[in-house]
Amino acid sequence: MDHRFGSSDSAKHFDLKGYLVDRRERIDRALKTYLDGASANRSEIITAMTYTLQAGGKRLRPILCLAASHAAGGREEDALPAACAMEMIHTYSLIHDDLPAMDDDDLRRGKPTCHKAFSEATAILAGDALLTQAFHLLGDHALRQDPGRQTTWLAIIALLAQAAGHEGMIEGQMRDIASEGRPLGLHELEQLHRLKTGALISAAVRAGALIGEADDTALDGLERYGQCLGLAFQVVDDILNQEGDPHLMGKAVGTDQFRQKNTYPALLGLAGAKAKAADLVNQSLRSLAIFDNKADPLRAIARYVIERQR
Ligand code: IPE
Ligand code: IPE
Ligand code: MG
Ligand code: MG
Repeated sequence: MDHRFGSSDSAKHFDLKGYLVDRRERIDRALKTYLDGASANRSEIITAMTYTLQAGGKRLRPILCLAASHAAGGREEDALPAACAMEMIHTYSLIHDDLPAMDDDDLRRGKPTCHKAFSEATAILAGDALLTQAFHLLGDHALRQDPGRQTTWLAIIALLAQAAGHEGMIEGQMRDIASEGRPLGLHELEQLHRLKTGALISAAVRAGALIGEADDTALDGLERYGQCLGLAFQVVDDILNQEGDPHLMGKAVGTDQFRQKNTYPALLGLAGAKAKAADLVNQSLRSLAIFDNKADPLRAIARYVIERQR
């Protein structure tokens, strides 16, 4: 893959592994405080919510949120509430995505899916509760801000609600389910993937940019970065579903073909899908050309997205 665009020497030497471990730990600590605060007693629903939330996700969306805030010149810790809300919304989407009425999967993040470990009803409610808790924590956080800063957090609440709802992820999930066994064209597939996965990933980047008080030019660059990366991420998810190692991924492979899902490898072949993912990642790197080394984490994450094995 061509890494010339938007790269810097410092980006090539960036310790992504150490960065990801450190940020995952920070996010996990913060998530814990938000869930401990959700209820004084450890009810069955909190146990189910925590089960999938703490099962070992990559935390890509919250890390992107912190990294975008940093790239825009802000402080990463200021982005933590939005980052945690993103991860709760994402985890809820996985719990519901795995339900028998949806993709009917038994393994997620290396463990039995929420409905297998608990019951279907509990998994539905755990998803509902994670989604609701995300907006509870954002609302609480917005209330504690100075009036000037409150507008930013209200914008983030609206942004995440839009990205997660019927104008974003839910519409994508609807199209994904409705088009099983009915081959889509390339344009329709791209729209589906942008909605089901791209919307939340680009919202994570945009939320970080808003928290870092990015100016219009920076916001524009980060927006394009998030959109390209969001689509690339789902193209790679499709590729891994065909040729990945289920032990590394912590979820089953071959299921897209079994369920006759619309995917990039099904439409373009594995080589075509890989070329598409590489092209999108190059585009995302070019979108960062105006940024200094504060965007190195974002650059390294973009490369990681196509090299990842889980
Ligand atoms: C999986 O997301 C579902 C998609 C939207 C492609 P991730 O690959 O980020 O899953 P976790 O959070 O690491 O488990
Ligand atoms: C998941 O898409 C998208 C959402 C959860 C919104 P997939 O169904 O393709 O992802 P995996 O492969 O189950 O993680
Ligand atoms: Mg699905
Ligand atoms: Mg699925």
